[in-house]
Amino acid sequence: MQSDNSRFGLRGFLIDAPEFGALRGRPNGALIIQNGRIAEVGDYDDLRRLHPPNSIQWINRGTVAIFPGLIDCHTHLPQYSVVARGESELLPWLRQHIFPIEREFTGPRAREEAPQFFHELARNGTTTVMAYAAIYEDSCDIGFEAARRSGVRTILGKMMMDLASYGQIQPKKILSVSLVESERLCRKWHKAENGLLEYAFSPRFAVTCSEKLMRGAGELAARFGAYIQTHLAENREELEKVHHLHMTARDYTDVYEKCGLLTPRTVLGHCIHLNPREIATIAAARSGVAHCPSSNLFLGSGLMKLDQLLKAGINVGLGSDVAAGPELNMWRVMRAAIEVQKARMAYEPNLRPLRPSEALYLATRGGACVLGKSAAIGTFHAGKEADLIVMDIASMLPYPQNRNWTPSLTAEDVIALCIYRGGPDANLETYVRGRRIYQAPNLQNLP
Ligand code: GUN
Ligand code: FE
Repeated sequence: MQSDNSRFGLRGFLIDAPEFGALRGRPNGALIIQNGRIAEVGDYDDLRRLHPPNSIQWINRGTVAIFPGLIDCHTHLPQYSVVARGESELLPWLRQHIFPIEREFTGPRAREEAPQFFHELARNGTTTVMAYAAIYEDSCDIGFEAARRSGVRTILGKMMMDLASYGQIQPKKILSVSLVESERLCRKWHKAENGLLEYAFSPRFAVTCSEKLMRGAGELAARFGAYIQTHLAENREELEKVHHLHMTARDYTDVYEKCGLLTPRTVLGHCIHLNPREIATIAAARSGVAHCPSSNLFLGSGLMKLDQLLKAGINVGLGSDVAAGPELNMWRVMRAAIEVQKARMAYEPNLRPLRPSEALYLATRGGACVLGKSAAIGTFHAGKEADLIVMDIASMLPYPQNRNWTPSLTAEDVIALCIYRGGPDANLETYVRGRRIYQAPNLQNLP
């Protein structure tokens, strides 16, 4: 592994998306990385000329594209083992497949799976993840320990729920135990590992959380400056249930607003079935949204109105939402995001498609904005932290002889290749803060 303070250079086709709709590509580009940060961005030949040959160790992997690390704003650590299971919609799926598997995610099982989960993230090129653990304190503790060892930048929280729970704790005690354990975990892990680990208070959603629990979560998050994550307006039946539980609320978003859960450090998963008032409220609160298109397709939850949220000025990132989303590969999540907007176009003729570079924006800088980290990660600028991935372009082309085409590919072409044909097999290396946290097996004997 690369040590934190080494200085090295990486050569490749640099591609990043500094704004929604803006794309930068530098075909023969290079990054110089020092002390975990991007020290210089430029053309390889220029940087090579500027620096004495022996002053920098150059890593040159051939025809590769280098992207900012991918950001997964919403996923579930205990659920990965049951991906692609079940044919039902959200609430029956939770009961049949998710609560039973989360119930088991403690002790040896959590200790076995958590390191594998974080390794999978790194292998897939995810450098930052925001995730839920199970309701048990140890599931979150074990998750953070695995995150720390993996090097993945991680925001994690213990799942909070006190109305319908899969745990064994006496109903009367669930509320206080949930708050006490969450606070203890926050004290232990929030901003640990030089800030690579952070805590998110994680009330599951209004169907399984009392108002007291949600208020308590909001207060704790404010006290510690921690994140909040929850699910909002994913499924029609869920909306009905929330309406019956909270008859006086104006809408679903109002329930969270009244409980103090809408803050600039809040990430709301899904947000499919929102009315204009709710969209305006989320924008005014400066809360972020994790769009989970592959999950929404899997559970038939609906087609998110991405254009409306972006138009309102809401920060939107992408989430794999495993296990409702079938995989951790964020390129596939980008693909689903594009396909969802294309599906909407059949009924809404004035919509325009989401371009590959815009999907890349959502999975990089968009996610960084959602997490309040756009000054630190998400694009290639000198001074930012060096979270990045190295993708093998040639391996995504259909025939070996197509390699000759690579010089003629535009940045948009390369992004589309990654989105439609890319994934962990094409990912050569993953770096967080300049430290290599994953390397493809066939490279492991090289420097
Ligand atoms: N809503 C409440 N809990 C969950 C969950 O675990 N997954 C998804 N997709 N939606 C939820
Ligand atoms: Fe989820």
